Amino acid sequence: MHLRVFESEQDAAVACAARVREAVTSHPSLVLGLPTGRTPLNVYRELVALHERKAVDWSRARTFNLDELLGVSAEDGGSFRAYMDRHFFRKVNLSEERIHFLDGAVPDAETECARYEAELAAEGGLGLVLLGIGANGHLAFNEPAEQLQARCHRTRLSRETREANAMLFGDDPSRVPLEALTLGMGALIQSRRAMLLAFGEGKAEAVKAMVEGPVTPRCPASFLQLHRDVEVWLDRASASALSARTQ
Ligand code: PGA
Repeated sequence: MHLRVFESEQDAAVACAARVREAVTSHPSLVLGLPTGRTPLNVYRELVALHERKAVDWSRARTFNLDELLGVSAEDGGSFRAYMDRHFFRKVNLSEERIHFLDGAVPDAETECARYEAELAAEGGLGLVLLGIGANGHLAFNEPAEQLQARCHRTRLSRETREANAMLFGDDPSRVPLEALTLGMGALIQSRRAMLLAFGEGKAEAVKAMVEGPVTPRCPASFLQLHRDVEVWLDRASASALSARTQ
């Protein structure tokens, strides 16, 4: 794992966006895996700023978001799709037909997961995936468990994950859906390149477990230790629990 520790979240976001820009510029039809949540907001803002300066062209890029809340339609302001529209998709020149998303409003979640998995396979898998990490060590919505799932699946969200997503629902965790659809560990570990972002003290223990702990389904992000090309983008606070040897 290649660690990059920055003085501030903003410094990390600027550097991370520059790295994504390089990747899209050198490979215009890149397949990107994209996260939602609080963590990537500054990166999206920087990517939009680069686009406005005509420093990056998204017209051929393809995107797959990592997950979506179950029972929530794309039009619902609380959906991850609506978050992406607000913060990124509507602000850059990505073409609609190259945006791939799980539909949280489908009647049959299993069929929807199989569709998404097949769509991703048809596009050759993820070229570059941006990831956050849950304070509980989750990766996308692969929550800590006895066993993890390789493929796209329906999952129950932990209480802390629902609390972390309450910002999309008027800061009321009880309004956050109980379940979600998520890419499985396979698509993430098989990505050609991964960039994981974590900021703030609240992520410090999860970062330590991911980097220094055993590879265990109790910390799904620890499986990134098996990834061939992963960069971990941190600020001082999220790096604060790492041993001096790792830093
Ligand atoms: P957050 O979520 O960015 O809102 O902390 C990260 C994650 O759950 O992966």
